Amino acid sequence: MKIISVGNFCDADCKVLVVNLFEGEKSKTDFINEHVVDKNEFEAKFNSTYLITTLGQYEADKILVIGCGKRNEFSENKAIRIFAKAVKQLNSLKIKKAVFDMDFDFDFTRAGVIGTHIGNYSFDKYKNEKNNKVEELYFVGVNQADIDRAEVVANAMDEARDLANEPAAYATPQKLAEIAQNIENVETKIYDVDEIKEMKMGAFLAVGQGSINPPKFIHVKYVPQNPKKKIALIGKGICFDSGGLDLKPAASMLTMRDDMSGAACVLSVIKAVSKLNLPVEIHALVAACENMPDGKSYKPGDILTAKNGKTIEVDNTDAEGRLTLADALCYASELGVDEVIDIATLTGACSVAFGAVCSGILGNNDEFVKNIIDKALDAGEKFWLLPTYEEYKYGLKSEFADMRNTGGRQGGASSAGLFLKEFVKDVKWAHIDIAGTAYLESPMDEFPKGATGAGVRALTNYLMSIQ
Ligand code: BES
Ligand code: MN
Ligand code: ZN
Repeated sequence: MKIISVGNFCDADCKVLVVNLFEGEKSKTDFINEHVVDKNEFEAKFNSTYLITTLGQYEADKILVIGCGKRNEFSENKAIRIFAKAVKQLNSLKIKKAVFDMDFDFDFTRAGVIGTHIGNYSFDKYKNEKNNKVEELYFVGVNQADIDRAEVVANAMDEARDLANEPAAYATPQKLAEIAQNIENVETKIYDVDEIKEMKMGAFLAVGQGSINPPKFIHVKYVPQNPKKKIALIGKGICFDSGGLDLKPAASMLTMRDDMSGAACVLSVIKAVSKLNLPVEIHALVAACENMPDGKSYKPGDILTAKNGKTIEVDNTDAEGRLTLADALCYASELGVDEVIDIATLTGACSVAFGAVCSGILGNNDEFVKNIIDKALDAGEKFWLLPTYEEYKYGLKSEFADMRNTGGRQGGASSAGLFLKEFVKDVKWAHIDIAGTAYLESPMDEFPKGATGAGVRALTNYLMSIQ
Protein backbone atom coordinates (compact mmCIF):
# COMPACT_ATOMS: atom_id res chain seq x y z
CA MET A 1 0.00 0.00 0.00
CA LYS A 2 1.22 3.46 -0.95
CA ILE A 3 0.14 6.63 0.86
CA ILE A 4 0.57 9.90 -1.00
CA SER A 5 0.01 13.44 0.22
CA VAL A 6 -2.20 15.67 -1.97
CA GLY A 7 -3.50 19.23 -1.79
CA ASN A 8 -7.11 18.34 -2.52
CA PHE A 9 -9.36 15.66 -3.98
CA CYS A 10 -8.86 16.74 -7.59
CA ASP A 11 -5.07 16.30 -7.33
CA ALA A 12 -5.52 12.56 -6.91
CA ASP A 13 -6.23 10.19 -9.74
CA CYS A 14 -9.13 8.64 -7.89
CA LYS A 15 -12.94 8.36 -7.74
CA VAL A 16 -13.59 7.59 -4.09
CA LEU A 17 -13.58 10.11 -1.26
CA VAL A 18 -13.49 9.31 2.46
CA VAL A 19 -14.53 11.99 4.94
CA ASN A 20 -15.36 12.05 8.64
CA LEU A 21 -18.29 13.53 10.48
CA PHE A 22 -18.80 14.36 14.16
CA GLU A 23 -22.10 13.79 15.92
CA GLY A 24 -24.33 16.88 15.84
CA GLU A 25 -22.04 18.80 13.47
CA LYS A 26 -22.12 19.84 9.84
CA SER A 27 -19.59 18.61 7.29
CA LYS A 28 -17.19 21.06 5.65
CA THR A 29 -18.53 19.72 2.34
CA ASP A 30 -21.88 21.21 1.28
CA PHE A 31 -22.77 18.19 -0.82
CA ILE A 32 -22.64 15.98 2.29
CA ASN A 33 -24.68 18.43 4.34
CA GLU A 34 -27.31 18.57 1.65
CA HIS A 35 -27.62 14.82 1.11
CA VAL A 36 -26.83 13.39 4.52
CA VAL A 37 -26.62 15.79 7.47
CA ASP A 38 -29.61 17.99 6.72
CA LYS A 39 -31.77 14.96 6.02
CA ASN A 40 -30.82 13.30 9.31
CA GLU A 41 -29.70 10.28 7.33
CA PHE A 42 -26.68 9.53 9.50
CA GLU A 43 -26.09 10.06 13.23
CA ALA A 44 -22.27 9.92 12.96
CA LYS A 45 -21.96 7.57 15.96
CA PHE A 46 -18.36 6.50 16.56
CA ASN A 47 -17.16 3.95 14.01
CA SER A 48 -20.39 3.89 11.98
CA THR A 49 -20.24 4.40 8.23
CA TYR A 50 -22.47 5.77 5.47
CA LEU A 51 -21.86 5.32 1.75
CA ILE A 52 -23.07 7.91 -0.78
CA THR A 53 -23.21 7.07 -4.46
CA THR A 54 -23.16 10.46 -6.14
CA LEU A 55 -24.49 9.50 -9.62
CA GLY A 56 -22.41 12.13 -11.35
CA GLN A 57 -23.53 14.99 -9.13
CA TYR A 58 -20.17 15.33 -7.37
CA GLU A 59 -16.53 15.08 -8.37
CA ALA A 60 -16.21 11.75 -6.56
CA ASP A 61 -18.28 8.74 -7.64
CA LYS A 62 -18.57 7.49 -4.08
CA ILE A 63 -18.20 9.17 -0.72
CA LEU A 64 -17.64 7.09 2.39
CA VAL A 65 -18.61 9.03 5.50
CA ILE A 66 -17.16 7.75 8.78
CA GLY A 67 -18.88 8.66 12.04
CA CYS A 68 -16.56 9.90 14.78
CA GLY A 69 -19.00 10.36 17.67
CA LYS A 70 -18.70 13.54 19.73
CA ARG A 71 -15.80 15.84 18.89
CA ASN A 72 -14.91 16.44 22.55
CA GLU A 73 -14.67 12.67 23.16
CA PHE A 74 -12.47 12.09 20.12
CA SER A 75 -8.77 11.20 20.40
CA GLU A 76 -5.83 10.13 18.29
CA ASN A 77 -6.40 6.53 19.34
CA LYS A 78 -10.00 6.73 18.20
CA ALA A 79 -8.77 8.18 14.92
CA ILE A 80 -6.63 5.07 14.39
CA ARG A 81 -9.79 2.96 14.61
CA ILE A 82 -11.66 5.28 12.25
CA PHE A 83 -9.00 4.90 9.55
CA ALA A 84 -8.83 1.15 10.02
CA LYS A 85 -12.59 0.88 9.78
CA ALA A 86 -12.67 2.98 6.62
CA VAL A 87 -10.09 0.79 4.91
CA LYS A 88 -11.94 -2.38 5.88
CA GLN A 89 -15.05 -0.89 4.37
CA LEU A 90 -13.16 0.01 1.18
CA ASN A 91 -11.84 -3.55 1.03
CA SER A 92 -15.30 -5.03 1.34
CA LEU A 93 -16.37 -2.76 -1.55
CA LYS A 94 -13.31 -3.95 -3.55
CA ILE A 95 -12.11 -0.35 -3.88
CA LYS A 96 -8.36 -0.07 -4.48
CA LYS A 97 -7.80 3.69 -4.29
CA ALA A 98 -9.32 6.44 -2.14
CA VAL A 99 -8.71 10.00 -0.99
CA PHE A 100 -8.98 10.76 2.74
CA ASP A 101 -10.01 14.35 3.38
CA MET A 102 -10.43 14.53 7.14
CA ASP A 103 -11.60 17.24 9.50
CA PHE A 104 -9.81 16.69 12.84
CA ASP A 105 -8.47 19.09 15.46
CA PHE A 106 -5.01 17.46 15.31
CA ASP A 107 -2.53 16.37 12.68
CA PHE A 108 -3.87 13.00 11.63
CA THR A 109 -0.78 11.70 9.82
CA ARG A 110 0.34 9.15 12.38
CA ALA A 111 -3.17 7.90 13.18
CA GLY A 112 -3.96 7.79 9.46
CA VAL A 113 -0.92 5.79 8.48
CA ILE A 114 -1.08 3.35 11.40
CA GLY A 115 -4.85 2.98 11.20
CA THR A 116 -4.97 2.31 7.47
CA HIS A 117 -2.18 -0.26 7.81
CA ILE A 118 -4.03 -2.01 10.63
CA GLY A 119 -7.24 -2.07 8.60
CA ASN A 120 -5.55 -3.26 5.41
CA TYR A 121 -3.62 -6.09 7.02
CA SER A 122 -4.46 -9.72 6.56
CA PHE A 123 -2.19 -12.74 6.43
CA ASP A 124 -3.14 -14.33 3.12
CA LYS A 125 0.28 -15.48 1.91
CA TYR A 126 -0.84 -19.11 1.86
CA LYS A 127 -4.28 -18.52 0.33
CA ASN A 128 -4.76 -19.04 -3.37
CA GLU A 129 -7.55 -16.51 -3.38
CA LYS A 130 -6.14 -13.29 -1.90
CA ASN A 131 -8.12 -10.90 0.29
CA ASN A 132 -9.08 -7.48 -1.05
CA LYS A 133 -6.61 -4.77 -0.10
CA VAL A 134 -6.40 -1.08 -0.94
CA GLU A 135 -3.34 -0.20 -3.01
CA GLU A 136 -3.14 3.57 -3.08
CA LEU A 137 -4.39 6.10 -0.57
CA TYR A 138 -4.19 9.88 -0.81
CA PHE A 139 -4.19 12.03 2.34
CA VAL A 140 -5.28 15.65 1.90
CA GLY A 141 -3.29 18.37 3.63
CA VAL A 142 -0.55 16.45 5.40
CA ASN A 143 3.17 16.36 4.93
CA GLN A 144 4.72 13.54 2.83
CA ALA A 145 7.83 13.34 5.02
CA ASP A 146 5.61 12.81 8.08
CA ILE A 147 3.72 10.09 6.22
CA ASP A 148 6.99 8.37 5.34
CA ARG A 149 8.17 8.41 8.97
CA ALA A 150 4.90 7.01 10.24
CA GLU A 151 5.05 4.37 7.52
CA VAL A 152 8.34 3.05 8.84
CA VAL A 153 6.56 2.21 12.10
CA ALA A 154 3.46 0.84 10.33
CA ASN A 155 5.61 -1.39 8.12
CA ALA A 156 7.50 -2.63 11.17
CA MET A 157 4.19 -3.56 12.73
CA ASP A 158 3.08 -5.39 9.56
CA GLU A 159 6.39 -7.26 9.37
CA ALA A 160 6.19 -8.32 13.01
CA ARG A 161 2.66 -9.58 12.38
CA ASP A 162 3.72 -11.49 9.27
CA LEU A 163 6.59 -13.18 11.06
CA ALA A 164 4.51 -14.14 14.11
CA ASN A 165 1.70 -15.43 11.88
CA GLU A 166 4.07 -17.66 9.90
CA PRO A 167 3.83 -21.38 10.67
CA ALA A 168 6.59 -22.71 12.93
CA ALA A 169 7.76 -24.84 10.01
CA TYR A 170 8.80 -21.60 8.31
CA ALA A 171 9.80 -19.35 11.20
CA THR A 172 12.57 -21.53 12.64
CA PRO A 173 15.53 -20.25 14.71
CA GLN A 174 17.59 -20.38 11.51
CA LYS A 175 14.98 -18.27 9.69
CA LEU A 176 14.98 -15.65 12.46
CA ALA A 177 18.78 -15.57 12.18
CA GLU A 178 18.53 -15.00 8.41
CA ILE A 179 15.99 -12.23 8.88
CA ALA A 180 18.32 -10.59 11.40
CA GLN A 181 21.24 -10.89 8.97
CA ASN A 182 19.26 -9.18 6.22
CA ILE A 183 18.53 -6.00 8.19
CA GLU A 184 20.41 -3.08 6.64
CA ASN A 185 22.72 -0.63 8.39
CA VAL A 186 23.24 -2.84 11.44
CA GLU A 187 25.84 -5.37 12.57
CA THR A 188 24.51 -8.86 13.15
CA LYS A 189 26.21 -11.67 15.00
CA ILE A 190 24.64 -15.14 15.13
CA TYR A 191 25.96 -17.56 17.75
CA ASP A 192 25.49 -21.27 16.98
CA VAL A 193 25.22 -24.13 19.47
CA ASP A 194 28.93 -24.44 20.17
CA GLU A 195 29.30 -20.72 20.75
CA ILE A 196 26.23 -20.72 22.99
CA LYS A 197 27.91 -23.47 25.02
CA GLU A 198 31.09 -21.41 25.22
CA MET A 199 29.06 -18.51 26.56
CA LYS A 200 27.77 -20.88 29.28
CA MET A 201 24.11 -20.23 28.53
CA GLY A 202 23.03 -23.44 30.22
CA ALA A 203 19.40 -22.47 30.68
CA PHE A 204 18.82 -21.45 27.06
CA LEU A 205 20.68 -24.52 25.75
CA ALA A 206 18.55 -26.87 27.83
CA VAL A 207 15.31 -25.54 26.36
CA GLY A 208 16.56 -25.90 22.79
CA GLN A 209 18.10 -29.36 23.09
CA GLY A 210 14.94 -31.34 22.34
CA SER A 211 14.52 -29.99 18.80
CA ILE A 212 16.11 -31.06 15.53
CA ASN A 213 16.27 -27.33 14.65
CA PRO A 214 19.32 -26.05 16.55
CA PRO A 215 19.12 -22.91 18.70
CA LYS A 216 20.56 -19.60 17.52
CA PHE A 217 21.51 -16.65 19.69
CA ILE A 218 20.93 -13.48 17.69
CA HIS A 219 22.56 -10.13 18.41
CA VAL A 220 21.73 -7.21 16.10
CA LYS A 221 23.50 -3.94 16.84
CA TYR A 222 22.56 -0.49 15.58
CA VAL A 223 25.18 2.16 16.39
CA PRO A 224 24.48 5.78 15.39
CA GLN A 225 27.01 8.56 15.76
CA ASN A 226 26.84 10.16 19.21
CA PRO A 227 24.08 7.99 20.66
CA LYS A 228 22.03 9.66 23.39
CA LYS A 229 21.48 6.32 25.09
CA LYS A 230 22.28 2.61 24.75
CA ILE A 231 19.42 0.17 25.03
CA ALA A 232 19.14 -3.62 24.76
CA LEU A 233 15.83 -5.03 23.52
CA ILE A 234 15.30 -8.73 24.19
CA GLY A 235 12.51 -10.62 22.43
CA LYS A 236 11.36 -14.07 23.54
CA GLY A 237 12.09 -16.28 20.56
CA ILE A 238 10.47 -19.67 21.16
CA CYS A 239 9.70 -20.61 17.58
CA PHE A 240 7.33 -23.29 18.80
CA ASP A 241 6.29 -24.01 22.38
CA SER A 242 4.92 -27.53 22.65
CA GLY A 243 5.53 -27.38 26.40
CA GLY A 244 8.40 -29.87 26.09
CA LEU A 245 8.06 -33.10 28.13
CA ASP A 246 5.44 -31.28 30.22
CA LEU A 247 3.48 -31.28 26.99
CA LYS A 248 0.68 -28.77 26.49
CA PRO A 249 -2.84 -30.02 25.77
CA ALA A 250 -3.85 -29.68 22.10
CA ALA A 251 -5.98 -26.56 22.53
CA SER A 252 -3.19 -24.62 24.29
CA MET A 253 -0.54 -25.75 21.79
CA LEU A 254 -2.51 -24.69 18.74
CA THR A 255 -1.28 -21.09 18.62
CA MET A 256 2.22 -21.62 20.02
CA ARG A 257 3.91 -20.63 16.76
CA ASP A 258 3.32 -17.12 18.12
CA ASP A 259 5.72 -17.71 21.03
CA MET A 260 8.34 -15.74 19.09
CA SER A 261 6.19 -12.59 18.91
CA GLY A 262 8.65 -10.80 21.19
CA ALA A 263 11.49 -11.69 18.81
CA ALA A 264 9.45 -10.54 15.81
CA CYS A 265 8.82 -7.29 17.67
CA VAL A 266 12.45 -6.46 18.51
CA LEU A 267 13.74 -7.40 15.05
CA SER A 268 11.13 -5.14 13.43
CA VAL A 269 11.81 -2.36 15.91
CA ILE A 270 15.57 -2.29 15.34
CA LYS A 271 14.94 -2.22 11.59
CA ALA A 272 12.61 0.76 12.05
CA VAL A 273 15.12 2.51 14.32
CA SER A 274 17.86 2.18 11.72
CA LYS A 275 15.57 3.46 8.94
CA LEU A 276 14.60 6.44 11.08
CA ASN A 277 18.25 7.07 12.00
CA LEU A 278 17.31 7.51 15.65
CA PRO A 279 20.12 8.72 17.93
CA VAL A 280 19.92 5.65 20.18
CA GLU A 281 22.28 2.67 20.19
CA ILE A 282 20.16 -0.49 20.07
CA HIS A 283 21.07 -4.09 20.73
CA ALA A 284 18.29 -6.48 19.65
CA LEU A 285 18.78 -9.88 21.27
CA VAL A 286 16.93 -13.12 20.64
CA ALA A 287 17.64 -16.52 22.17
CA ALA A 288 15.83 -18.45 19.43
CA CYS A 289 14.90 -22.12 19.84
CA GLU A 290 12.03 -24.58 19.89
CA ASN A 291 10.63 -26.22 23.03
CA MET A 292 10.02 -29.82 21.97
CA PRO A 293 9.57 -33.25 23.59
CA ASP A 294 12.26 -35.72 22.52
CA GLY A 295 14.74 -38.29 23.83
CA LYS A 296 17.21 -35.43 24.14
CA SER A 297 14.81 -32.98 25.84
CA TYR A 298 15.56 -31.37 29.15
CA LYS A 299 13.56 -32.93 31.95
CA PRO A 300 11.60 -31.89 35.02
CA GLY A 301 14.01 -32.11 37.93
CA ASP A 302 17.06 -31.18 35.85
CA ILE A 303 19.26 -28.49 37.38
CA LEU A 304 20.54 -25.90 34.92
CA THR A 305 23.27 -23.30 35.32
CA ALA A 306 22.61 -19.95 33.69
CA LYS A 307 25.30 -17.67 32.24
CA ASN A 308 25.66 -15.78 35.56
CA GLY A 309 26.29 -19.01 37.48
CA LYS A 310 22.88 -19.17 39.18
CA THR A 311 21.32 -22.64 39.26
CA ILE A 312 17.71 -23.41 38.35
CA GLU A 313 15.70 -26.53 39.16
CA VAL A 314 13.32 -27.33 36.31
CA ASP A 315 9.91 -27.63 37.88
CA ASN A 316 8.06 -27.50 34.57
CA THR A 317 9.54 -27.66 31.08
CA ASP A 318 6.69 -25.46 29.85
CA ALA A 319 8.10 -22.50 31.79
CA GLU A 320 10.80 -22.30 29.12
CA GLY A 321 10.60 -18.66 28.06
CA ARG A 322 12.07 -17.38 31.31
CA LEU A 323 14.98 -19.84 30.98
CA THR A 324 15.93 -18.49 27.56
CA LEU A 325 15.38 -14.91 28.71
CA ALA A 326 17.52 -15.51 31.81
CA ASP A 327 20.61 -16.09 29.69
CA ALA A 328 19.72 -13.25 27.33
CA LEU A 329 19.35 -10.90 30.33
CA CYS A 330 22.80 -11.96 31.63
CA TYR A 331 24.24 -11.25 28.17
CA ALA A 332 22.48 -7.87 28.00
CA SER A 333 23.70 -6.93 31.48
CA GLU A 334 27.28 -7.32 30.23
CA LEU A 335 26.86 -4.98 27.24
CA GLY A 336 27.22 -1.79 29.22
CA VAL A 337 23.84 -0.45 28.11
CA ASP A 338 21.76 2.09 30.04
CA GLU A 339 18.50 0.18 29.82
CA VAL A 340 17.24 -3.32 29.06
CA ILE A 341 13.70 -4.06 27.92
CA ASP A 342 12.49 -7.60 27.39
CA ILE A 343 9.24 -8.41 25.62
CA ALA A 344 7.77 -11.89 25.81
CA THR A 345 4.69 -14.05 25.42
CA LEU A 346 5.61 -15.22 28.88
CA THR A 347 2.66 -16.32 30.99
CA GLY A 348 -0.84 -17.65 30.56
CA ALA A 349 -1.47 -15.92 33.90
CA CYS A 350 -0.98 -12.49 32.32
CA SER A 351 -3.30 -13.42 29.50
CA VAL A 352 -5.97 -14.63 31.97
CA ALA A 353 -5.67 -11.46 34.07
CA PHE A 354 -5.70 -8.85 31.30
CA GLY A 355 -7.09 -10.68 28.28
CA ALA A 356 -6.13 -9.32 24.89
CA VAL A 357 -6.82 -5.76 26.05
CA CYS A 358 -3.53 -4.86 27.66
CA SER A 359 -0.02 -6.19 28.17
CA GLY A 360 1.59 -6.54 31.60
CA ILE A 361 4.74 -4.63 32.55
CA LEU A 362 7.10 -4.55 35.51
CA GLY A 363 10.70 -3.60 36.15
CA ASN A 364 13.31 -2.42 38.63
CA ASN A 365 12.82 1.35 38.23
CA ASP A 366 9.40 2.96 38.66
CA GLU A 367 10.11 6.09 36.65
CA PHE A 368 11.48 4.09 33.73
CA VAL A 369 8.50 1.71 33.68
CA LYS A 370 6.04 4.61 33.97
CA ASN A 371 7.68 6.35 31.02
CA ILE A 372 7.31 3.22 28.86
CA ILE A 373 3.65 2.89 29.86
CA ASP A 374 3.06 6.53 28.83
CA LYS A 375 4.84 6.18 25.49
CA ALA A 376 2.93 2.96 24.77
CA LEU A 377 -0.40 4.62 25.45
CA ASP A 378 0.53 7.60 23.29
CA ALA A 379 1.16 5.17 20.44
CA GLY A 380 -2.09 3.26 20.93
CA GLU A 381 -0.96 0.35 23.13
CA LYS A 382 -2.10 -0.36 26.68
CA PHE A 383 0.40 -1.60 29.27
CA TRP A 384 -0.67 -2.28 32.88
CA LEU A 385 1.71 -2.38 35.82
CA LEU A 386 2.16 -5.81 37.47
CA PRO A 387 3.00 -5.98 41.19
CA THR A 388 6.55 -6.91 42.20
CA TYR A 389 6.14 -7.58 45.94
CA GLU A 390 8.91 -9.81 47.31
CA GLU A 391 6.28 -12.35 48.40
CA TYR A 392 5.82 -13.34 44.75
CA LYS A 393 9.25 -14.93 45.00
CA TYR A 394 8.30 -17.40 47.73
CA GLY A 395 7.13 -20.00 45.21
CA LEU A 396 10.40 -19.88 43.32
CA LYS A 397 12.35 -21.40 46.28
CA SER A 398 14.10 -24.70 45.58
CA GLU A 399 15.53 -27.33 47.95
CA PHE A 400 18.24 -28.29 45.50
CA ALA A 401 19.12 -25.22 43.44
CA ASP A 402 19.18 -21.42 43.75
CA MET A 403 15.61 -21.27 42.44
CA ARG A 404 12.89 -23.18 40.57
CA ASN A 405 11.61 -22.07 37.21
CA THR A 406 7.98 -21.76 38.34
CA GLY A 407 6.32 -20.22 41.32
CA GLY A 408 3.04 -22.12 41.42
CA ARG A 409 -0.20 -21.32 39.69
CA GLN A 410 -1.15 -18.13 41.51
CA GLY A 411 0.34 -14.76 40.64
CA GLY A 412 2.16 -16.32 37.68
CA ALA A 413 2.86 -13.12 35.75
CA SER A 414 4.57 -11.47 38.73
CA SER A 415 6.54 -14.52 39.83
CA ALA A 416 7.82 -14.98 36.27
CA GLY A 417 8.90 -11.32 36.31
CA LEU A 418 10.71 -11.76 39.63
CA PHE A 419 12.42 -14.87 38.24
CA LEU A 420 13.78 -12.75 35.36
CA LYS A 421 14.97 -10.08 37.78
CA GLU A 422 17.51 -12.58 39.18
CA PHE A 423 19.44 -12.31 35.91
CA VAL A 424 19.50 -8.53 35.57
CA LYS A 425 22.63 -6.88 36.90
CA ASP A 426 23.29 -3.19 37.49
CA VAL A 427 21.03 -1.83 34.76
CA LYS A 428 17.56 -0.32 34.46
CA TRP A 429 15.22 -3.04 33.30
CA ALA A 430 11.60 -3.46 32.20
CA HIS A 431 9.76 -6.64 31.27
CA ILE A 432 6.67 -6.63 29.06
CA ASP A 433 4.39 -9.69 29.02
CA ILE A 434 2.45 -9.86 25.74
CA ALA A 435 1.04 -13.39 26.20
CA GLY A 436 -2.52 -12.07 25.92
CA THR A 437 -2.01 -9.27 23.42
CA ALA A 438 0.35 -10.72 20.80
CA TYR A 439 -2.19 -13.04 19.22
CA LEU A 440 -5.97 -12.73 18.92
CA GLU A 441 -8.01 -15.93 19.05
CA SER A 442 -10.86 -14.01 17.44
CA PRO A 443 -11.03 -10.57 15.79
CA MET A 444 -11.02 -7.52 18.08
CA ASP A 445 -11.78 -3.98 16.97
CA GLU A 446 -10.06 -3.61 13.58
CA PHE A 447 -7.59 -6.45 14.19
CA PRO A 448 -8.28 -9.81 12.53
CA LYS A 449 -7.60 -13.15 14.19
CA GLY A 450 -3.86 -13.79 14.54
CA ALA A 451 -0.75 -11.78 15.38
CA THR A 452 -1.13 -8.11 16.36
CA GLY A 453 2.44 -6.78 16.30
CA ALA A 454 2.18 -6.05 20.03
CA GLY A 455 4.99 -3.87 21.34
CA VAL A 456 6.16 -2.48 18.00
CA ARG A 457 4.36 0.85 18.24
CA ALA A 458 5.06 1.17 21.96
CA LEU A 459 8.79 0.50 21.72
CA THR A 460 9.40 2.60 18.60
CA ASN A 461 7.48 5.47 20.18
CA TYR A 462 9.55 5.15 23.35
CA LEU A 463 12.78 5.14 21.32
CA MET A 464 11.61 8.06 19.17
CA SER A 465 11.06 10.08 22.35
CA ILE A 466 14.76 9.88 23.31
CA GLN A 467 16.43 13.11 22.26
N1 BES B 1 4.32 -19.42 25.95
C1 BES B 1 3.68 -19.74 27.16
C2 BES B 1 2.79 -18.61 27.68
C3 BES B 1 1.56 -18.32 26.87
C4 BES B 1 0.34 -18.85 27.23
C5 BES B 1 1.61 -17.45 25.80
C6 BES B 1 -0.78 -18.54 26.50
C7 BES B 1 0.49 -17.14 25.06
C8 BES B 1 -0.71 -17.68 25.43
C9 BES B 1 4.72 -20.05 28.25
O1 BES B 1 5.90 -20.60 27.80
C10 BES B 1 4.10 -21.02 29.18
O2 BES B 1 3.84 -22.11 28.76
N2 BES B 1 3.90 -20.60 30.42
C11 BES B 1 3.32 -21.45 31.40
C12 BES B 1 4.12 -21.32 32.66
C13 BES B 1 3.73 -22.30 33.74
C14 BES B 1 4.15 -23.70 33.35
C15 BES B 1 4.39 -21.87 35.02
C16 BES B 1 1.89 -20.97 31.62
O3 BES B 1 1.67 -19.77 31.64
O4 BES B 1 1.02 -21.81 31.74
MN1 MN C 1 5.74 -22.74 27.68
ZN1 ZN D 1 6.42 -20.19 25.85
